Amino acid sequence: MKKLIISSAVVLISGFISSVTEELHAADSAKKGKVLIAYFSMSGNTRVLANQIKDMTGGELFEIVTVQTYPSDYNALVNLAKKEQAAGYLPELKSKVNKMNSYDVVFIGYPNWWGTMPMPVFNFLKSYDFKGKTIIPFCTNEGSGMGSSENDIRKICPSAVVKNGLPIRGGKVKSAQNDVRSWLRASGYVK
Ligand SMILES: Cc1cc2nc3c(=O)[nH]c(=O)nc-3n(C[C@H](O)[C@H](O)[C@H](O)COP(=O)(O)O)c2cc1C
Repeated sequence: MKKLIISSAVVLISGFISSVTEELHAADSAKKGKVLIAYFSMSGNTRVLANQIKDMTGGELFEIVTVQTYPSDYNALVNLAKKEQAAGYLPELKSKVNKMNSYDVVFIGYPNWWGTMPMPVFNFLKSYDFKGKTIIPFCTNEGSGMGSSENDIRKICPSAVVKNGLPIRGGKVKSAQNDVRSWLRASGYVK
């Protein structure tokens, strides 16, 4: 009898604890809000990171695609990207995010091009009102890290909260899960 009372008490208490825990998690994700992961990727490295962030946060993916395709020849691409940056040229984008208003947190991913974001990402950021939203950048690169991109984002989106970004070497994206998880955990976006 004693055993039965104790085990029923244990069942009751553990049920109570798990329902409180569930409520806390629900409240936590409601507080963090709806997550969008927007990214631009030419050769696929940044796309790999974007998918890892999607899997870990449960956010929705949006790929930034230009109307005019970039050259597949590396040198031609490097030269064109430099010209676009020098001219402040904003390449036209193929599609828009449906209901940007509904998102509270926007992860934005890109390769480092000439020390900052590619110009299509500048255009993306200039196309929406980010007031009250949190922007979290991530970037793949071959040694320049985030470059000046975080400050550039702060200049374009002065009314958003722009967190510090995650830079990952292009060749290391496939084994970056641990870095991604601890960065997300530090910003509170994953358990
Ligand atoms: C046009 C262009 C400019 C680049 N400029 C830089 C740079 O300034 N610093 C750097 O570390 N890597 C630079 N890179 C390397 C890319 O950032 C790196 O390869 C990245 O992982 C590519 O990402 P993706 O596969 O998503 O396109 C450049 C690459 C290209 C194509």
